[in-house]
Amino acid sequence: MVFIIRTGPTDKAVTMTFRRVNLIILVLLAVAFLIIVERNLLNLSEFLYKESPDADIVLPFESELSPDLRVQMVRKGEEIPVLITASEDRLGAVIAAMNSVYHNSKANVAFTIVTLNDTVDHLKAWLSKTKLKHVNYKIIIFEPGLLSGRISKDAKTMETVKPLTFARFYIPAYLPEAEKAIYLDDDIVVQGDIQELYETKIRPGHAAAFSDDCDSASAKGIVRGAGNQNNYIGFLDFKKEAIKKLGMRANTCSFNPGVIIANLTEWKNQNITQQLQHWMELNTQEDLYTKTLAESVTTPPLLIVFYKRHSTIDPMWHVRHLGTSGAGNRYSPQFVKAAKLLHWNGHYKPWGRTSSFTDVWDKWFISDPTGKFHPVRRHSGEK
Ligand SMILES: *[C@@H]1O[C@H](CO)[C@@H](O)[C@H](O)[C@H]1NC(C)=O
Ligand SMILES: *[C@@H]1O[C@H](CO)[C@@H](O)[C@H](O)[C@H]1NC(C)=O
Ligand SMILES: *[C@@H]1O[C@H](CO)[C@@H](O)[C@H](O)[C@H]1NC(C)=O
Repeated sequence: MVFIIRTGPTDKAVTMTFRRVNLIILVLLAVAFLIIVERNLLNLSEFLYKESPDADIVLPFESELSPDLRVQMVRKGEEIPVLITASEDRLGAVIAAMNSVYHNSKANVAFTIVTLNDTVDHLKAWLSKTKLKHVNYKIIIFEPGLLSGRISKDAKTMETVKPLTFARFYIPAYLPEAEKAIYLDDDIVVQGDIQELYETKIRPGHAAAFSDDCDSASAKGIVRGAGNQNNYIGFLDFKKEAIKKLGMRANTCSFNPGVIIANLTEWKNQNITQQLQHWMELNTQEDLYTKTLAESVTTPPLLIVFYKRHSTIDPMWHVRHLGTSGAGNRYSPQFVKAAKLLHWNGHYKPWGRTSSFTDVWDKWFISDPTGKFHPVRRHSGEK
């Protein structure tokens, strides 16, 4: 602002104007100051919230924190509990998955994110500094000690075993209040309304619904062998006594546990978690899984426990194998567009160097505000 100062009889008026201007500036400064203080108070309350552990959480899981409810957009209606894991080496995956779920639904989605202690700060920064701060989420720390004696001690396999992959075995422990819940792998993108998936019918007596590997949408064109199995013998060693005794048919269609809809009442009634742990323990002693197991090590125990006792998911709600070689030729862009849920299971992840349909995934990815994570191809492309 420019003021022309004149001397003479108008001096008084000029001084008055200055006073008024000063007052306005003071008021503006005070408002700005209050805004800053308020911001800090929000952070402080968040901090205090973090410091007081939630008494409801069942051990051995440690609940780390909840988001600040004041920044959430409150959504009404029945809560849809979604369990997902966040792994440091691929943290962009859970971000894209959550963003796609949240954006494509008006439902009251409540995420529970299971992660390891070292990832909490990074994950929290990513969620709170982007538009995902409006999402209702809770972070829970996975206790890796839980797996001792349950996964092979063989140093070679230890390297490849990712503890978080077993989080899905403990769904009721992470969601003690829920009756029904969804588990999602992190290498997915949801294009439909998650409410629809949540409404998947679970038959009486069944604890969960999975996608059968023989379902029409994804079985078409699967290259057999070379890591693509669609029956029990691809996962379990039927020569082993413990497996033989179960009397399961080796050519039964397997299912993919990357998407699970669970009835947690049934899960608890049938002691599903304990049963899964039993088979994990037995495997460490008797090597029950096939040597050529290409998919996740979580599949074989699930196949045993849910043999002929699970409901199915609409095939369009789990279009998979997008991470296998040749996926780009197997599905047409129109089909991929029509899919409700896409799953990049296989070696070629959409944040990796080469993968199919990465443009679809990119739409949901949000850059890491801390700058630690970059999709590989994008990173190299920038240079
Ligand atoms: C978890 O990480 C925090 C730092 O982020 C550290 O202070 C704490 O000791 C860790 N807890 C465990 C159990 O490792
Ligand atoms: C879950 O299972 C229980 C026990 O069988 C049953 O009463 C309940 O209706 C089921 N809930 C859902 C949402 O399917
Ligand atoms: C589940 O475990 C409890 C306690 O260990 C036991 O009493 C019950 O019979 C078990 N139920 C099933 C279906 O195995």
